[in-house]
Amino acid sequence: MNKMAHQLDATLQQILDLARWAPSGDNTQPWRFEVLDQRRLVVHGHDTRDHCVYDLDGHPSQMSIGALLETMAIAASTFALEMRSMRHTDTPDNRPTLSIEFLPSPSLPADPLADAIMTRSVQRRALSRRALTATEKSALTSALPDGYRVRWLEGGERLAAARLMFGNAKLRLTMPEAHRVHASIIEWNARYSEDRIPDQALGADAMTTRLMRWVMQDWKRVQFFNTWLAGTLAPRLQMDLIPALACAAHFVLVAERKPQRMDDYIAAGRAMQRFWLTATAQGLQLQPELTPLIFSRYVREERVFSATPGMQQRAERLSRQGAALLGQADWEAAVFMGRIGAGEAAQSRSLRRPLRDLLLPAQ
Ligand SMILES: Cc1cc2nc3c(=O)[nH]c(=O)nc-3n(C[C@H](O)[C@H](O)[C@H](O)COP(=O)(O)O)c2cc1C
Repeated sequence: MNKMAHQLDATLQQILDLARWAPSGDNTQPWRFEVLDQRRLVVHGHDTRDHCVYDLDGHPSQMSIGALLETMAIAASTFALEMRSMRHTDTPDNRPTLSIEFLPSPSLPADPLADAIMTRSVQRRALSRRALTATEKSALTSALPDGYRVRWLEGGERLAAARLMFGNAKLRLTMPEAHRVHASIIEWNARYSEDRIPDQALGADAMTTRLMRWVMQDWKRVQFFNTWLAGTLAPRLQMDLIPALACAAHFVLVAERKPQRMDDYIAAGRAMQRFWLTATAQGLQLQPELTPLIFSRYVREERVFSATPGMQQRAERLSRQGAALLGQADWEAAVFMGRIGAGEAAQSRSLRRPLRDLLLPAQ
């Protein structure tokens, strides 16, 4: 066991133990903790942009780090500790690093969202189509800090969002750059996974999952299936179209100021986590749908993300669809998107690396 784990202050240990349940894209958990003393630590973040086509400029990883910070602050409030954080501006962009300090604050109320930290989990399967109630919507809207608002996509717009997700899935499933990511982040034959996504949490039925496992071992098989056997159809129906229709609504979190710098994405991640924890506290389930926003930004900035002909054009079509749905300005200022609705909690989910594996020796 890491030497630090023996010396860890009991309160700090409990805070970090809860904070590590923050969500991260593909369950990468792009954070390590360097504990300095009982109430201070440094969060060493990283991103996966060099090998993950979705982690454009490391922004999704930065949002995950934002989620971690928010979770840490909520956990600390249950000990009447106020969290202060300061980002080190001298570390490289792909290594977000933050100094964290917890200060005694006897009048600080415990944040009730703390109860939802461990039960919050992504649900990729069908949800109830019951519309969100006014109370649920108002709880979700008021969960957001200043500078963010929600756009709900319901009724006919839910259908348009489902079309967008179906097209987006085709892009993801026919692109070798995305295949490489999927092959490395899925843990096969698993209900739980500490460091990846278990295949049973993906939302496909058992037979389709078995077939996907076999096909995905080799990109040539994927191409053959896609070309001759409509290979993307069953996974896209089960993991994208049906869930996108079977939900109360899709939602988009829009920033008042278009996000640009790392701090904007960290702040967006904090807002995302408050929204998601509030959904959990309301008994609702949620699934992020971030990839249409990511591919739209590739398109907007004229950046090539695939060596395969036709992919860029497909992404351009999706980007136009998204802009038609939300209006160009909101589509460009969108920081997070997903589907939401009442439903059962996921039976299969990602777990987390043990805290001792996340601790770094003091430098
Ligand atoms: C920034 C971010 C982006 C994500 N994007 C997606 C996504 O596009 N589709 C999806 O199904 N899940 C997405 N997720 C969910 C993660 O895969 C999930 O949170 C992670 O595997 C941990 O699982 P848990 O949330 O059940 O604890 C995203 C999560 C974060 C934080």
